Amino acid sequence: MYFQLSALIGGITSVASQTCPASLRMRDRHVEEMYLLNNPEVSGGRKVLDLGCGCGASAIAAKLTGASHVVANDIDPIAAVATKMNCKLNNLDPLPCVTDNMIGSKPDDWDLILLGDMFYDEDLADRLHKWLQTCITTHGTQVLIGDPGRAQFESHDIRKLLHKLAHFELPDSVKEENYGLTNSTVWCYNYKPDL
Ligand SMILES: C[S@@+](CC[C@H](N)C(=O)[O-])C[C@H]1O[C@@H](n2cnc3c(N)ncnc32)[C@H](O)[C@@H]1O
Repeated sequence: MYFQLSALIGGITSVASQTCPASLRMRDRHVEEMYLLNNPEVSGGRKVLDLGCGCGASAIAAKLTGASHVVANDIDPIAAVATKMNCKLNNLDPLPCVTDNMIGSKPDDWDLILLGDMFYDEDLADRLHKWLQTCITTHGTQVLIGDPGRAQFESHDIRKLLHKLAHFELPDSVKEENYGLTNSTVWCYNYKPDL
């Protein structure tokens, strides 16, 4: 199995591309996408939300690995443009892109929510954490988080509720572009509400 995921606009402003065979090969910081591409059963047949989608790489990886329905969400409208361009580059029909702030809204019945590098701000992390708990308790949603070891993430309460799925050392070229961040991890949220 061999997937090509081309990101025209990585993180909205920079240009990035990556080629991901089923065996792991790291060319970018998008470790969550790498994880999905190498574990297609995680998103296959599922209803998936990529929240804070940026260039749409996670949403595209979910679609490429057989998700039944994928929505890309980002409050930055440029992210929606980038996601649609990247869909085209990857020979996909444009994915639905929502620019509303979904955090705090009544959650839809997502099977899987993907979050890539969304814990860079304490207030955002708090609001996100609370909303994710609602999604999980209401619909049993599975949550995957990709994070490059940000201080705000490492010190947040959510960190204690996460189970490590995969860890990637970033290649030197990527380290240079990522402000000293040297590795990235994919986490699964294990939140268990009190019964
Ligand atoms: C660090 S970027 C990560 C982008 C992408 N997930 C990735 O891994 O490359 C964070 C993204 O979150 C978006 N964002 C911030 N607050 C948001 C919110 N409340 N709802 C949706 N997206 C949000 C920003 O616009 C930005 O595109």
